[in-house]
Order: sequence, then C-alpha cells, then structure tokens
Amino acid sequence: LTVVGLGPGAEGWLAPAARAALADAQDIVGYRTYVALAGPFRGDQTLHVSDNREELQRARHALALAARGRTVAVVSSGDPGIFAMAAAVMEALDGAPKDVARAWHGVALSVVPGISAAQAAAARAGAPLGHDFCVLSLSDNLKPWDVIERRLALAASGDLVLALYNPASQARPHQFARALEIIREHRGPDTPVVIGRDVGRADESVRIVRLGDLTPDGVDMRTVLIVGSSTTRTLARADGGLWAYTPRSYATDAPP
Ligand SMILES: C[S@@+](CC[C@H](N)C(=O)[O-])C[C@H]1O[C@@H](n2cnc3c(N)ncnc32)[C@H](O)[C@@H]1O
Repeated sequence: LTVVGLGPGAEGWLAPAARAALADAQDIVGYRTYVALAGPFRGDQTLHVSDNREELQRARHALALAARGRTVAVVSSGDPGIFAMAAAVMEALDGAPKDVARAWHGVALSVVPGISAAQAAAARAGAPLGHDFCVLSLSDNLKPWDVIERRLALAASGDLVLALYNPASQARPHQFARALEIIREHRGPDTPVVIGRDVGRADESVRIVRLGDLTPDGVDMRTVLIVGSSTTRTLARADGGLWAYTPRSYATDAPP
C-alpha cells in the first residue's frame, strides 16, 4: 500500500516515485477529484472513488484491499502527509479491528511525498517561506473553531509566516473574516499576502496583495494563502508584477 502525493496538479510537479507507484498499482483509492487528477489509468486498474469527507473509511478500504494481497495506491493532492491521507491510513491502521489487525499490520506500507500547495504557491510568488513559517488549516471539520483561533493568534503573535489551508468554504463564510481580524491584530496593513488559487492547474491564479487590501472575496477551498511576517517584503519583477520573499536572516534593524 503506497500513499501517493500528487502535488498540486501540474504534471511536471509529480515525483517519478509517485508516477511509478501509480503505474504499479492494481487498485487506486481516493477522492474522486484526485483520482481524476492522477489518471489516466489502464483498463486493468480498478478505481475506488469516494466523497471528500470519507477519509477514514477510504483508508480502511485501502488497507483491506492490500491485506488481501492487492497492490494499492491511495492518492492525495499535494503532500499526503499534510492534511491528507497518510495520517488517515496511520489512524486506520492504529485502530484496526481485532479480526483484521494482524493482516493490516502485515501490509508493506509506504508514503511518497508530494509538493504541497503552500510550496507551489510560494514558488510562483518568489520565496515567502524563506524563514520560519507555520502551516495551519482553517477548517473546523476536524477540530473546534476556538482551537483554530488560539493557534492563529499564537502563530501570528510569534511573527511566523502563515501558510493557511482550507481558508474558507461556503458553509462557513464568517470564519475567514474572523481569521483576518485576528491576523490584523498582529500584522500591519502593508504585510504582503500571497493568494494562490488552483496553483499548478489550468485555472491557476497567484496574486500578491497587501494585508490591508485582503478581503474574503475570491478566497475559497481551492485557495492557499501565505501571510508574510514582519520581514516579508515585495520586489519588482521584470514582467511588471511583484515577487514576495522573506529574507533568510533578520536584518539588524528588523524586529527580533
Ligand atoms: C485537505 S487540504 C490538502 C492539502 C494537500 N495535502 C497539500 O499538501 O497541498 C486542501 C487544501 O489545500 C489547499 N490546496 C490544495 N491544492 C491546491 C492548489 N492546487 N492550489 C491552491 N490551494 C490548494 C487549499 O487550501 C485546500 O483547501
């Protein structure tokens, strides 16, 4: 059983090891959209597609298939270890029902890393993750909202660059506005923010805006945000646009 990171979507960003695992697999298991992203597949490969919220069930299904001797690839977008299927597979294995535990623990399991959304957006924008940063999911599907608020406030007050996944969905439109309020308590209006949407896919857009100008419009579940720290700055690009980067070291006149 191989948990495969597909990267954000661009074919050139799929690791050769991921490509090999996909080619080797008899069964491909994953969320519908990601299985489509990972294809095309051969006629002798079986696709097991499911809904986005069924991670644990999907992980158990993959383990059961592999325990029966099948060669299985579970696919995730980006890196499978970042808010994705590798943790779900570990959790399913850890909680394996008694009658199958022995078989599931006998499965040869590996994880193939992928380029995560924040890395892809950062590369497009320049180098905003050049110094210490923190990766947070703003989704309260799997953790309470007050935990999110507390972590966001701590990371923002610690002057870490913030990479924000699952920033806003139609089901929770007010939460992103609240997240922005918290960030603005600790960061000035000129702080550069990278808004990467569908990075590495056909509809890619990457914008750099000031924190003071950032609104919830156009920020959705296909978007990753990178909010700069006090040292993140912008720089003119040859094409008239902007680069954003965070210097490797603090300048002597920068805040500690
Ligand atoms: C459940 S998380 C999965 C993250 C994934 N494992 C990764 O490492 O990129 C889904 C969130 O990742 C971000 N994301 C994934 N792919 C993206 C892309 N191509 N462009 C922008 N954001 C993306 C969005 O914030 C989305 O809501």
